[in-house]
Amino acid sequence: MSNYHIKHLEEYFQVYRKSVQRPETFWEEIAEEHFVWRKRWNKVLDWDFKKPEIKWFEGAELNITENCIDRHLPTRKNKTAIIFEPNNPEEPAQHITYGKLHEKVCRMANVLKEQGVKKGDRVCIYLPMIPELAYAVLACARIGAIHSVVFAGFSSNALAARINDCECNMIITSDGSYRGKKVLDLKKIVDVALKTCPGIKKVLVAKRTGNKISMKKDRDLWLQPLLDNAYADFDAERMAAEDPLFILYTSGSTGKPKGMVHTCAGYMVYTAYTFKNIFQYKDGDVYWCTADIGWITGHSYIIYGPLANGATTLMFEGVPSYPDYGRFWEVVQKHKVNQFYTAPTAIRALAKENLDYVEKYDLSSLRVLGSVGEPINEEAWHWYNNNVGKGKSPIVDTWWQTETGGIMISPIPFVTPTTPTYATLPFIGIQPALMNEEGKEISGVQVDGRLCIKFPWPSMARTIWGNHDRYRDTYFTAYEDKYFTGDGALRDAVGYYRITGRVDDVIIVSGHNLGTAPIEDSINEHPAVAESAIVGFPHDVKGNALYGFVILKEVGEVRDRDNLRKEINQQITEQIGPIAKLDKIQFVSGLPKTRSGKIMRRILRKIASKDTSNMGDISTLLNPEVVEEIHKNSL
Ligand code: WT7
Repeated sequence: MSNYHIKHLEEYFQVYRKSVQRPETFWEEIAEEHFVWRKRWNKVLDWDFKKPEIKWFEGAELNITENCIDRHLPTRKNKTAIIFEPNNPEEPAQHITYGKLHEKVCRMANVLKEQGVKKGDRVCIYLPMIPELAYAVLACARIGAIHSVVFAGFSSNALAARINDCECNMIITSDGSYRGKKVLDLKKIVDVALKTCPGIKKVLVAKRTGNKISMKKDRDLWLQPLLDNAYADFDAERMAAEDPLFILYTSGSTGKPKGMVHTCAGYMVYTAYTFKNIFQYKDGDVYWCTADIGWITGHSYIIYGPLANGATTLMFEGVPSYPDYGRFWEVVQKHKVNQFYTAPTAIRALAKENLDYVEKYDLSSLRVLGSVGEPINEEAWHWYNNNVGKGKSPIVDTWWQTETGGIMISPIPFVTPTTPTYATLPFIGIQPALMNEEGKEISGVQVDGRLCIKFPWPSMARTIWGNHDRYRDTYFTAYEDKYFTGDGALRDAVGYYRITGRVDDVIIVSGHNLGTAPIEDSINEHPAVAESAIVGFPHDVKGNALYGFVILKEVGEVRDRDNLRKEINQQITEQIGPIAKLDKIQFVSGLPKTRSGKIMRRILRKIASKDTSNMGDISTLLNPEVVEEIHKNSL
């Protein structure tokens, strides 16, 4: 029996049992049989959730790009590694073979080295979904530089904060980016950010849109001529198993974004293994994940997981609505996509449009459908299943996080029977636990609680860049000896898990993880604002939308409220990005607070969701009278 590819339910249970009873033997076999190593490990696992310290495959040496590229060359040199589908459907798609990918990544690695990047340096990548993004990520990995990809929808301020937090010395960007009909001036956003980033010595600029940009002498360089002149081979750096591979920022409920650090060996093994099984990828298949590489989904399941399996992975530059709402299905038909992985928010947006957009295209190539990023509601699940999968493609509802590196709870298609809205069973090696308010594990079925993981898995983040204490406090102190996810979940009668949503102050809007604190900080910087509180409320496309309660300063003239709302959203757009804009802004005279001064978000959440039948006990509030006022004027 090959434990690498699971094909039946009994096999799943058998392999799962082995992975839990003898995790070290289990992962050792997977690592040994399916990857290439420069040097073997001394110890498979060393861990202590108290410190916390987690090490997988210690002593081993490898380079992840040798596993993702070089080792496929003897058999797959002319096979397509990446299909690039541009924003504009008139522009031809590119089929980048494994041979070509090797050449491009090597050239890019040589350019980075010539420009002074060394092993361990941090390189910021701020690029649209163009092939150079994949080359840049892999080139960093090849020379041992730590990539920090920042989603190219973030503002200058958000970009600068991420560059400075991990002290990047280079940024790779482009002149502009296409999004539907729009051309965005990326380089200008970078120029503004760099005014406060003294550590950046070099800016490499890919040409994409051809819009006019300014280039700063000695600092800014066009990428293309450098690549053309670079040598097309590059000896991959030997990396220790636990050397950092990348940093990726995610929002926390408080304070600045957390730079989650992922390391080389465990991340590679787990993303490859989950990709193979959860998408049931077979040689020759075309796989498409619609996420942006700026998020963990793109890192693990557009780049590393698929390429480690020698797969063909599609990179899409555009948006689901351009030139019309049939774009996704047109791409599926055009490239005969077999596995399609997207987010519930995209499904809900498309489900609102005319069915003709779906029915026009031949979707018969599809075999597996995936969902990720937030709970998928029943209606969206059925729409996806009936209209896209035609009832024959299992939906894998994959639950995981930036911190977990790979998929944690998910059906295995054709193996695990699916149930709408359930992520179903833990993946191989994953040991979930539901915890009660007293910090005790809840056993049995038909229970709900807070979702923790009891045992390490290979792709878990090892720390927060520059702040190990915060890593411990955020994930390992709520429940002793367990990793706390921040999510609530229930376990049904057959042991299936259903994720019920965040139990902290993180709000998932259109699948984007947003912390309330940074948004509130940005609102509070508006000169007219005294204080604010943000909560989420249900939205039929975004899943959740943001509702802001804002107290104005009393000084100065009475301002036009709608203008103020615009200015507040403008402020948020500049400081964080348009994804964090508020749908509703209510001006209030006070916020409900406990006697210790903490905002009672529970009450605000109820008002924002129009669920005010039972407000709970408000008598302990410092200012119970504001609740009535806020409720009466709610939007
Ligand atoms: C949070 C993590 C990991 C990929 C993208 C998001 C929510 C993610 C599901 C799902 C219900 C989900 C959780 C999680 N989430 N997938 N299938 N069902 N909720 O990564 O930005 O780190 O967000 O997304 O709340 O904690 P992220």
